[in-house]
Amino acid sequence: MTREEILKLDRANVVYPWVVQGKGEPLVIDRAEGIYMWDVNGKRYIDFCAGLLCVNIGHGNKHVLDAMKAQMDKLCYVGTQFATEPKAKLASMVAEVTPGDLNHVFFTNAGADAVENAIKAVRWATGRQKIYSSWHGYHGATSGAVTLTGDPRRWPSEPGIPGVTKYFYPYCYHCPLGYKDNQSCGTACLQTLKAQVQMDGPKTIAAIFMEPIIGTNGIIVPPVEFVKGVRQLCDENGILMVSDEVMAGWGRAGRWFGIEHFDVVPDIITTAKGITSGYIQLGAMIWNDKVHEVFTQRPFVGGLTYQGHALACAAGVANIEVYRKDNLIEKSRLDGEYLHGKLKELMDRHPSVGDVRCKGLWACIELTSNRATHAPLAGYADCIRNVSGEFTKRLYALGLYLFAKWDFLFISPPLTITRAEIDESIGIIDEVLGWTDSLIGR
Ligand SMILES: Cc1ncc(COP(=O)(O)O)c(C=O)c1O
Repeated sequence: MTREEILKLDRANVVYPWVVQGKGEPLVIDRAEGIYMWDVNGKRYIDFCAGLLCVNIGHGNKHVLDAMKAQMDKLCYVGTQFATEPKAKLASMVAEVTPGDLNHVFFTNAGADAVENAIKAVRWATGRQKIYSSWHGYHGATSGAVTLTGDPRRWPSEPGIPGVTKYFYPYCYHCPLGYKDNQSCGTACLQTLKAQVQMDGPKTIAAIFMEPIIGTNGIIVPPVEFVKGVRQLCDENGILMVSDEVMAGWGRAGRWFGIEHFDVVPDIITTAKGITSGYIQLGAMIWNDKVHEVFTQRPFVGGLTYQGHALACAAGVANIEVYRKDNLIEKSRLDGEYLHGKLKELMDRHPSVGDVRCKGLWACIELTSNRATHAPLAGYADCIRNVSGEFTKRLYALGLYLFAKWDFLFISPPLTITRAEIDESIGIIDEVLGWTDSLIGR
C-alpha cells in the first residue's frame, strides 16, 4: 500500500492516544533494524528514542526473533494456571538481575497494570490504604496508575482512586521549595516529605511509590540522600517502597535497574518496556521475600488472562541473554557518560538549552526561554507554544526521531548505538536547536 492509502485508512479508523483525533499526520513506518527505521517511501530515520523508550536491544535482533519463532511453533499461550518453561525461566532470570531479595514475579501485560497490581499488593500486604506518589512521576494511563501520576495527564481522570497523596520530588532545576541551587538545600525535599508523612500518620501509609529516576517528566535524577532517606522513612514506619522501573529498568540508566544507583533495595519493583524491548508486550510486578510471605498465607486476588504469556516470556528470556552477551548494561553506563559530554557541549552552544540531564543512555534536554530564571520556552501542561511539535517535524526532515513534549527533548536510543551514531544524531539536534535559539526573545 502507498503512504497515502495507509494514511486514509488510518485517519478513518485508528484512534490515537493522548491527542485530539484527526489532527496529526504520523510517519508511516514500514520496517526497522538496529537503531534505524524506514518509512514506506524508503526514507531512513534514526530511532533516537528506541520507540517509546523501550527498544533497548535495537530493532530486529536475530537472537530474539529466532527465540520467538521457535516458541511460536511450540506454544504461544496457555491458561495462567499452568507452568511453562519460558515463564519459569524468565521469572528466575528476573530474580537474578533484580537487586536484593526481589525474587517473586507477577507478570502483567505492560507497565500500567503492573502498577495497578502493586497498588493492590501494598494495600493488602500492609492493611493500610494510603499511597504516596510524586508530583513529577508518571505511572501509566489506567485509573489507579494515572491517579498516582503527578503531571497533567492525570487531570482528565480526576478525581481518580481514593487514598493517593502527592509529594514533591527533588526536581532541582525547578526546585519546588524555591532553592536556587541544589548545593545549599541539604535535603529539604526529604525533610518536607518526612513532615508530610508525620502529619498524615506514618502508620496509616501503605507505600511510597517513586520512579528512581523520573522518566517522562524530564529524566530527573534525585540526590542519593533523598532516595536513601525515603527507604529509611519506609523502614521506620512499616511503609513499603515501590520503585517504578517501567522506564528506568533494563539498562536504560546504565544499571540493570535505576534504583541501584542509590544503593537501595525497594520492596516491590514494577517494570515493563525493556523486559522484552517491545518485541511483544510484557510487564511485571516483582515482590521481595517479605511481601511474598504475606501472600503465602492468603491469596493475591488478582490476575490477567495473558499474564506469563509463553511467547512474551520467551522474548524476555532472549532479551536478557542479549543484554548479557553484548554487555549492554555496562555499555549504556559508559556510552551514557560520552553522551552526557556531547549534551553539555550542546548546552554551551545553545542559549535555548536550559539544562541537560543524563544517566546511562537516557537523557533529556530541557529548553528554556531564559537561562537565568529557567523560564520555560514551550511551557508545561497547556503549552505557551507548541515547540515540541515543530521541533520533531524539523528532526524528521533531517532523518531523526526523538520523543519531545513541553520543554523536554528525550534521548534514549537503543543501547546498541555506536559513538559515531551518537555523534551523527547529536549533529542533527544541534542543527535544529538553532531554531529554538531563534525563538528566544520573540
Ligand atoms: C515509569 C512508568 N510507569 C508506568 C508506565 C506505563 O507503562 P505502559 O504504557 O506500558 O502501561 C510508564 C510508561 O511510559 C512509565 O514510564
